[in-house]
Amino acid sequence: MSEFLNVALPKGRLGERVYKMFAEAGFPCDELLDPKRKLIFENPEAKVRYFWVKPSDVPVYVERGAADVGVAGKDILLEYGPDIYELLDLNVGKCRMCVAAKNGFRDDPDRTLRVATEFPHITQAYYSARSRDIDIVRLHGSIEIAPILDLTDVIVDIVETGTTLRENDLSPIETIVPISARLIANKVSFKFKHAAIQTLYEGLKTQVAAKEAEQK
Ligand code: PRP
Repeated sequence: MSEFLNVALPKGRLGERVYKMFAEAGFPCDELLDPKRKLIFENPEAKVRYFWVKPSDVPVYVERGAADVGVAGKDILLEYGPDIYELLDLNVGKCRMCVAAKNGFRDDPDRTLRVATEFPHITQAYYSARSRDIDIVRLHGSIEIAPILDLTDVIVDIVETGTTLRENDLSPIETIVPISARLIANKVSFKFKHAAIQTLYEGLKTQVAAKEAEQK
């Protein structure tokens, strides 16, 4: 059991893309792309076990050692600050964390700014560094609606193509931080399963470097 490398992947398109990178790095398990509802898959030959989890739960599995490694967005890592090793920027799932508001919004610095977000820690840290008083409204999706209904003045959210903002007559007004997917590892596993994690890391790093060279 323990010699298997346990990998938590974020369910969805990003997870599938990242899995292909893991397979190329020497940890294939193609049954995982089967569109059934199974959540755990293993390949005894490659000594790897994968499980699909909710993207924001990946660091929980890795921090507690239920997974040795996983893939999580930088947004999730910044928000929850898990005690894990961040090994590699996979350079996929690229987007940015932004402040956005209704088109034409003018900020009044003398008033407390009302901010809707799924990322209260990132939001608080950003505005605290600017000594700006804010009132955070924690939501769990469809954040873009908040300024439209005057629930808040602005939102802090992920922007990828910008389509969701545009379709709702909102615009990004500040970029807080660029985001991408990261390879993360449990601290104990990093010591005791070092060979497997190193093989994975090297295989992924080669692919990231090749893609970067291609883009230049
Ligand atoms: C994210 C984010 C935005 C959207 C941005 O939502 O919250 O709503 O993507 O993408 P765009 O700039 O390409 O339009 P996601 O689809 O991850 O779902 P969520 O609302 O559950 O967070």
